[in-house]
Amino acid sequence: MSPPLTSAPGVRQKTFSFRCIGCGDVTESAQQDFRCAQCHDLLEIVYPAWDEYKPGAEKLKSAWLTRRLSSKPEDLSGVWRFRELLPPIEAEQVITLREGNTPLFELPRCARITGVPQLFAKHQGMNPTASFKDAGMTVAATFARRAGFKWVGCASTGNTSASMAAYAARGGMRSLVLVPEGKISWSKLSQALDYGAVTCQLRTDFDGCLRLLQELVLRAPVYQLNSINPFRLEGQKTLAFELLEQMGWNPPDHIIVPGGNLGNSSAIGKALVEMRDLGLISRLPKLSVIQAEGANALVRTLRETGGKKLVSVAPETRATAIRIGNPASWKKAAHVIEATGGACEQVSEIEIAQAKAEIGAEGIGCEPASAVTLAGLKKLVEQGFVKASETVVLVLTGNLLKDPDYTMEFHRGELLAEGDGARSLASLRHAPTVLDATLDAVMRTLEQSEKS
Ligand code: F0G
Repeated sequence: MSPPLTSAPGVRQKTFSFRCIGCGDVTESAQQDFRCAQCHDLLEIVYPAWDEYKPGAEKLKSAWLTRRLSSKPEDLSGVWRFRELLPPIEAEQVITLREGNTPLFELPRCARITGVPQLFAKHQGMNPTASFKDAGMTVAATFARRAGFKWVGCASTGNTSASMAAYAARGGMRSLVLVPEGKISWSKLSQALDYGAVTCQLRTDFDGCLRLLQELVLRAPVYQLNSINPFRLEGQKTLAFELLEQMGWNPPDHIIVPGGNLGNSSAIGKALVEMRDLGLISRLPKLSVIQAEGANALVRTLRETGGKKLVSVAPETRATAIRIGNPASWKKAAHVIEATGGACEQVSEIEIAQAKAEIGAEGIGCEPASAVTLAGLKKLVEQGFVKASETVVLVLTGNLLKDPDYTMEFHRGELLAEGDGARSLASLRHAPTVLDATLDAVMRTLEQSEKS
């Protein structure tokens, strides 16, 4: 066996434990369903060794930067580059597609629209399978294989399954995908098929798929790769490490993220708190979570119960990635919103469509679920929660190409029923025109567009 991945000089390799977020029980191993054996709540990964020996902030920053000049696969990964803050593993065991390393874009047009000049997008849709899931999947798939599993499985609204299938294929494992029939985009489904997953379209919603998977992993040797799996969240933390490095370790005032099953917000929040505790940043950005009005379980949970009890909903939204009514990580997300002083908001279908077109007009684009961040920012500005002088980062979770049907229907004016205020979006639409193949016809179209 080769030695563990080398750490930054002077930074000791640490071990990790699982801690229950409900009763606080700490264990060295987890059951197949990644739930606490005592109280059945979710587990998180903790690093007890940090209590005695904190990795030095300056040493970490310099080691992470140096690795950008390396050509080793584990250094080229924008996840494993930050390995001192991840569970340790031998280099040869890492399954990587060179994930992470995603760009931070300025959004000048959206800045004008929202009145927030310092507005940025961290585009996780630029990952190998075109969504943020890859950052978590490289870690969780690696630990699945190391634990000796031949099969991995997930329930998904599409992106998790695409990512899992890719990492399973790279790692020589087989994958089982459970998706809600008719409620995920063909782009995402086609990725899973091409990467060789056994794909089951179940006559239920995402929550039904996840329930079934949780039962299945207790009966069959299938390693579950949903974000209930805390290794996924450890990988997804690196989005925040990379973002802060890109910002010269000056924390933005706000980070805004879409909320579905609520793993990603939990991971980013955990990373922010860890960075503050390790002295990598001096203050916490406020982490805000935005949901679609039709899938607003966390919004209702916080408003109606003060975060004490989950209010499940029957989800309905065209942003199918976040069409989730019973989010597994709601407690973790509620905790990080509170810990960072963030907000939780909901946005309508028309607000999502408008925001998506506005992000598209920046030459960047994203999938509908990601656009809730811009729509949510507009609300938070209106409420005075975000000030014009503050720096804001939107986390764009998925690529524009993930849901072409949505985009085509929007531009053709078929996405939203008239009367929903949909007409006001006309100036953002660019429907294709069918013409005779003559110079005249194209010239006329050009002239008309000039005038409009
Ligand atoms: N944005 C996109 C593009 C997603 O695919 C998801 C979740 C989210 C946001 C929400 O993230 O669940 O961590 O709160 N997609 C999962 C899937 C559920 O199966 O692909 P979350």
